[in-house]
Amino acid sequence: MYHHPVLSFFSSRIPLQVILIVVALICRTQGRVSLPDNVTVPAVFMFGDSIVDTGNNNFFKTVVKSNFPPYGRDFIGGKATGRFSNGKIPPDLIVEEFGIKELLPPFLDPSLPLHELPTGVNFASSGAGYDPLTSKLFLVVSMSDQLQLFSQYKRRLTNFVGQKRAHKIVADSLYMAVAGSNDLAETYFHTPLETRKYNLHSYTDLLITSASVFLQGLYKLGARRISILGLTPLGCLPSQRTVSGGEKRACVKRFNDAAKMFNSKLLSELKVLRKTLPHVRLAYADGYGALMDIIQAPQEYGFIIADRGCCGTGLVETTFLCNQWSPGTCSNSSQFVFWDSYHPTEKAYRILLHKLLGKIVHDLFHH
Ligand SMILES: *[C@@H]1O[C@H](CO)[C@@H](O)[C@H](O)[C@H]1NC(C)=O
Ligand SMILES: *[C@@H]1O[C@H](CO)[C@@H](O)[C@H](O)[C@H]1NC(C)=O
Repeated sequence: MYHHPVLSFFSSRIPLQVILIVVALICRTQGRVSLPDNVTVPAVFMFGDSIVDTGNNNFFKTVVKSNFPPYGRDFIGGKATGRFSNGKIPPDLIVEEFGIKELLPPFLDPSLPLHELPTGVNFASSGAGYDPLTSKLFLVVSMSDQLQLFSQYKRRLTNFVGQKRAHKIVADSLYMAVAGSNDLAETYFHTPLETRKYNLHSYTDLLITSASVFLQGLYKLGARRISILGLTPLGCLPSQRTVSGGEKRACVKRFNDAAKMFNSKLLSELKVLRKTLPHVRLAYADGYGALMDIIQAPQEYGFIIADRGCCGTGLVETTFLCNQWSPGTCSNSSQFVFWDSYHPTEKAYRILLHKLLGKIVHDLFHH
């Protein structure tokens, strides 16, 4: 019988359990992300809104839900899990790319297995925003409450793996914040002009101040490597084209300009935070440019339709309006950039992530 020289060398001296652990560790690092030799990313933690919520909203009362068909149509088992897409969403794709695990589970799930804690969980809540009013309007978990949940998580993690290991997991992991779309698209632009207390300048200032308070809070709790997704071209979301894009459903310039204003102020604030928070690494991810590239040349990425979603007519449907009775839902979502009138398909999310991840990893982990 042939004995693999390396394995038989080990097996003569080392118990099988140890070999299996070593093999498991080697397999774990087989994500597609390339990290410097001395860097490991034990876990991923996610904060924000429906772009990254993997199902937290299933566990309390709100109308902002997607745990019913056809959501999840192309997910494992065709299951609707509260992810706002046909399949996986960015947190899942990120843990996959880093070779950490298959899915990033929602922290609020009462049946969350303990063994998920050391590799990361998700605190995001669909409908949330940097403006506390946005989360209140939708009755969802605000950004500051998401930080409270992270504190709770740290206590549970410490009980499970001990102080020393918990500290290392918190310090070395990847954190990501994705919010702001609901603040502008819903809270700001849906308030009638007469009753608006802010103009766009003062409102984006409020959002940036609030985002900055969030990032400082996360830093205080131990995060050191944080990526922030800039706003996507909100005016090109199918829903916004329908409501404000005129007969031709063109991209709405004032919404896109608002997103750009938010992004440029966010970039300046990140520069300030890099100076004031010792040893922090902050990565800005240009969601605007990445999604705009796809919307402007969908065919180059294998899409056919970029101006309406797959679900229903694709013009207005999202949350409860996108359901199994919505007439006209497309049969092949990989032809669509958008799954519903707000959220990209898994295929579009994958392409977006491939465009953004190189820079994120560079900014957070390389020197
Ligand atoms: C990895 O090595 C580089 C270069 O020697 C060093 O600057 C950096 O601090 C190290 N990173 C970690 C996480 O040890
Ligand atoms: C779905 O659409 C994609 C992209 O156009 C195409 O490559 C694929 O063959 C289609 N799948 C089916 C089952 O029609």
